[in-house]
Parts: sequence; C-alpha cells; structure tokens
Amino acid sequence: MKIIKVANQQAGAQLAFELIKEKLKTGAQVLGLATGSTPIALYQTMVASDWDFSAVTTINLDEYIGLSANHEQSYHYFMDRHLFSHKDFKQHFIPNGLASDLQAEAARYDEILANYPIDLQVLGLGQNGHIGFNEPGTPFTSQTHVVNLTESTIQANARFFADEKDVPSQAISMGIASIIAAKTIVLLAYGEEKATAVKAMVEGPVTPACPASILQDHRDVVVILDQAAASQLSACD
Ligand code: GLP
Repeated sequence: MKIIKVANQQAGAQLAFELIKEKLKTGAQVLGLATGSTPIALYQTMVASDWDFSAVTTINLDEYIGLSANHEQSYHYFMDRHLFSHKDFKQHFIPNGLASDLQAEAARYDEILANYPIDLQVLGLGQNGHIGFNEPGTPFTSQTHVVNLTESTIQANARFFADEKDVPSQAISMGIASIIAAKTIVLLAYGEEKATAVKAMVEGPVTPACPASILQDHRDVVVILDQAAASQLSACD
C-alpha cells in the first residue's frame, strides 16, 4: 500500500488523474468507478481535461436497489451528471437496481466483470470501512451481491436525500473479490470522518470487520488522503 498525503481534494484529484492517465497510456482500457462525494473532484478534473476516453470501458461499483436511472440519487444519475454527460466513453456498466430478478442481475454483472477485467479501480471509503457497498462482515471472497445497508451507512448517505427515510435500505454491489481483482486500485479518502476507517484500513488487522483492510494484501494500491483523513495514522506527520 502506497500512502500519499495531499493538501486538499483538488490535489488528490489531480494525482489520481495522473495515475489513471499513466495506466491508459500503457494500455489500460477498463476503469472501475465509484460514486459518493469523494470522487467528484476527480470527475471534474477528467471533464476539464482534453483527454480522449472514447476507447475506455467503465464499470461502476454499485447501485441502490429501487431507484431508477433518472432518480436524482441513483448512481446512474450521479455518473451521468458528473462524468458521462460530459465525456464520451466506449461503454458504461452500472448494476440495475430495478432488476426484477436481482440474483440474475448479480450474475449478469459478474459475467461483465469476467469479460472486462478492471485495469484501475477508483474507490472511496465508507466511514465504517466499506468499499463499494461491501459492509463490515462481507466475506473477502464475495462477488456481486445484494447488500442490506447498515444503519451507519444509511445515516452517512442521508445527507443526499430529503429525508433519512428516503435512503434505500438495500443496494447491489460488486463484491470484494471483484474489487481486489483490479490490477491497480486508487482509493481516495478525505476528512476527519474517514480517519478511523483509514487507520483500520492501513494499520489494523486484515479482517472482514473492516472490508477495506483487504487492500493491505493487494500488490498495487495507492491511497490518497488529506491531512484530516490521515490524522489517526501512527506515522502521520
Ligand atoms: C457510499 C458508496 C461508496 C463510497 C462511500 C463514501 O455509500 N457506496 O462507494 O465510497 O459510500 O461516500 P462519500 O465519498 O460520499 O463519503
């Protein structure tokens, strides 16, 4: 795990985009993308660039169950708004949270992941250490699956909805096995509210109690943190 501290989200976004461009220049064709407030600056940086993404396939981590693609809080809508409506890509994949058969949808997504191995996966970090929507306790061997969101995740994400009651209680998420199959992983975390999860991810035991801790065992992970998110690390200056 390579830990890089940056001054702010803007600097983190620039750095993450440099890493992405480096991989794209050397043949990467599939980007794994995340949602949440954390990658927004990265997507703005990508949009502001003159980089040509038209040969790039994107695969998103997750989607809420029950929200249509045009619901303002769906991850489909988020990706269109922040990236896809501004830049042309070859193709996009996002789980369908309205699928009538969610098991079949999960199997369909696993097949997509098998056909398009992810070259570089962008990740945010949940306050409880989740990656994608893989909540604490999720086996490291998990593939795409339906998730019951924890109360802490529902509360953390309530800020995007008019009312906490409106936050879906379930999501469909790429599993941890699929995430760590990515050749390179770039995880971004900003702010004091991520500091505990960052410490558990970097310095804690590798345990499903902190899903992100599995990244300690991955060969090529870059963790980009601001000072606040890094503040509980023992080596923090
Ligand atoms: C959400 C998403 C994650 C994201 C995390 C942090 O629930 N499923 O992919 O990384 O929570 O969100 P934020 O960046 O808004 O703090």
